[in-house]
Amino acid sequence: MRKKIVAGNWKMYKNLAETEMFLVDLKKQVFPENVVVMIAPSFTNLNQAFKSLREHPVTVVAQNMHQNNEGAFTGEISANMLKSVGVNTVVLGHSERRAYFKESSAILAEKVNTALENEMTVIFCIGEELDDRKKGSHFELIKAQLSEGLFHVSNDAWENIIIAYEPVWAIGTGETASPEQAQEMHKFIRKTVAENYPEEIANKVSILYGGSVKPDNASEIFGQADVDGGLIGGASLQVDSFMKIVNSF
Ligand code: PGA
Repeated sequence: MRKKIVAGNWKMYKNLAETEMFLVDLKKQVFPENVVVMIAPSFTNLNQAFKSLREHPVTVVAQNMHQNNEGAFTGEISANMLKSVGVNTVVLGHSERRAYFKESSAILAEKVNTALENEMTVIFCIGEELDDRKKGSHFELIKAQLSEGLFHVSNDAWENIIIAYEPVWAIGTGETASPEQAQEMHKFIRKTVAENYPEEIANKVSILYGGSVKPDNASEIFGQADVDGGLIGGASLQVDSFMKIVNSF
């Protein structure tokens, strides 16, 4: 059975005190056994979050990392640094990284390799812009993002890969893909994986939906056959709305 996952992407929100407040409340919650819960705070709060959640079933995730293992890359964070503070999972290729920090598929392919070499789990994000969807080129674009950034990995690597489909036009806009649009694309992604890898890999990989998931739309989206959970931005910043989404399966 595929893992059900809800991951909170905090983006550039919450300082240390705010993170601690969230964690105090989060630790009081009862977590459903069938859902893997993750939070991705900023780099400066990863260590604190990991230590604080050690006894709790919540995985602490990084929002990004550099493709090199070390070196003269001022301002960057390596896989080794993440692992040294207890972080073994990383989000790669978020649309904000692709758009604002010019992360190309070639760079992302390198980041994926570095993460896997360091025995980390990757949440690999893909998603089309509104223009692509209007032009009808969204399937093609998603296929290209997958093949250029991810499809070089070995069969074995898929144990450590999660895909997140996040249509850029739905991120932070309040506009969600309809459950049918999400299902259509998730099914396409799974089919595309199956065209490049053994079918059992495609059937096993968790594909998360992201883009304005809220407590009131989560269960309909998570109810789709090929949607295995969500990558949640805005609604992951409050424990109450995050937990409602976690409990939406
Ligand atoms: P959102 O962000 O839920 O605020 O739309 C999702 C994301 O960017 O991961």
